[in-house]
Amino acid sequence: MNRVYIKTYGCQMNERDSDAVAALLRGRGYTIINDEKEADIILLNTCSVRDQAEQKAIGKAGHLLRRKRKNQKFVVGVMGCMAQNRGQDLLDSLPDLDLVVGTQKFHQVPDHLDNIIATLNGQGPKPSPLVDLEEEEDSQNTIRDHNLESRQVSAFVSIMQGCNMNCTYCIVPTTRGRERARPIPHILKEVEELAANGTREVTLLGQIVTSYGRREIPFKDGKSPFVQLLEQVSEIEGIERIRFTSPHPRGFKQDLIEAYSRLPKLCPYVHLPLQSGSQKILKAMKRPYSPERFKQIVDDLRAQVPGVTFSTDIIVGFPGETDEDFEQTRALFEAVAFEMAFIFKYSERPNTEAEGMSEQVSQEVKEQRNQILLDILHKNSLKHNESLIGTIQQVLVEAPARKGEGCFAGRTPGYRKAIFPASERLIGELVPVKIERATTSSVFGSLVLSGVEEPTQELTPLEALAN
Ligand code: SAH
Ligand code: SF4
Ligand code: F3S
Repeated sequence: MNRVYIKTYGCQMNERDSDAVAALLRGRGYTIINDEKEADIILLNTCSVRDQAEQKAIGKAGHLLRRKRKNQKFVVGVMGCMAQNRGQDLLDSLPDLDLVVGTQKFHQVPDHLDNIIATLNGQGPKPSPLVDLEEEEDSQNTIRDHNLESRQVSAFVSIMQGCNMNCTYCIVPTTRGRERARPIPHILKEVEELAANGTREVTLLGQIVTSYGRREIPFKDGKSPFVQLLEQVSEIEGIERIRFTSPHPRGFKQDLIEAYSRLPKLCPYVHLPLQSGSQKILKAMKRPYSPERFKQIVDDLRAQVPGVTFSTDIIVGFPGETDEDFEQTRALFEAVAFEMAFIFKYSERPNTEAEGMSEQVSQEVKEQRNQILLDILHKNSLKHNESLIGTIQQVLVEAPARKGEGCFAGRTPGYRKAIFPASERLIGELVPVKIERATTSSVFGSLVLSGVEEPTQELTPLEALAN
């Protein structure tokens, strides 16, 4: 009665929330499993950012509830952004749900499940659905537990929750609430524990990490709270690489650009959401920067950070986006030559400022614009990956590759996926890989070591390279 399967939709913050819930449940004696067919309890951690994301989760929940009809003791819960967004209304279409948990109540899931199970086992009245969607002060500090029974070479760490921007298309401020930072010492403790457990890379997560601690922590020597946090995480022994997502162009100031030359652990990869290359559309989206400022940040980073790579988010088909507006996006997208990008077709969200705006763009035009950007992206990704052929890249070995016997996968500093033959014992090591082949999504190569199969005790891979 205690095997739990958690299915996660949405962004990295959701993945992290699911992991934290899993860790708490393990601590309570539940077993987390990977096969949903074997589960006694299924939790869907949901996303509301586009309509499609909600429809997927609703479809899945409906399907699971049919399974519940055959087995009354089977438990189905919905957590996260869609739970927060739709709340009680979810029960109109899915009345048999056992549990609906909002984004500030993830840490209550073990208590709620304990209660539901006790009732199902006849120790209480027939359960009505449990709905827990309140705001909770300091809930940002509850996303901190990890499964320390197994090693995570690369781990996510949530440093804050919520968002105070009001981009007119976006539902996240509704689903995630106001911006709340975790204190620096809490974050450091979490990263230290991860490092002690074998983690080598951390990705600091927040809706806008560049706003981290703006109200709670003062600037010091011209450095923002976020840069101060990066400096302190950098000092943690065992952590070799630091990444973060997402910064906001507005908050990407000189102190952060300079941090790249001072902090060698900071990886030369920046996910910087552009959304549109048209000033008019940025204004309608309430994104407070110009296309020129965006390009300036990219140029400054390219000038100062060797080999830096970029990814971005773009929305095509925002209301009022004309051919000319799109052409400006296309031209900037081409000029920046992003190595990676996430391109979204605008999806109208309830209770956002953009809801009901006139001049909606047709689905067909959205598709066309989406395809134009995807073609540019594929060309640029391939070109970039091919430019790595012949170079030696430091790769953090993460896990066996999904394809290719004896092959392992990891990331280059610029976040390109690298695949190469290696051995299990190199997992968690930074190794030099000579790149020999490239596709749009990955690079392939081989370790620059003689006797990789039997690395000598005295030599770490890096020293071996120097010899
Ligand atoms: N906080 C992050 C983004 C979180 S949402 C940031 O501001 O960078 C991830 C991405 O989803 C956004 O960057 C945006 O490109 C996309 N998105 C958000 N709302 C959307 C909508 N209504 N329709 C289509 N894409 C959307
Ligand atoms: Fe949404 Fe804008 Fe906040 Fe990002 S910054 S989460 S796009 S409102
Ligand atoms: Fe989706 Fe919520 Fe993330 S709406 S994108 S899961 S913050």
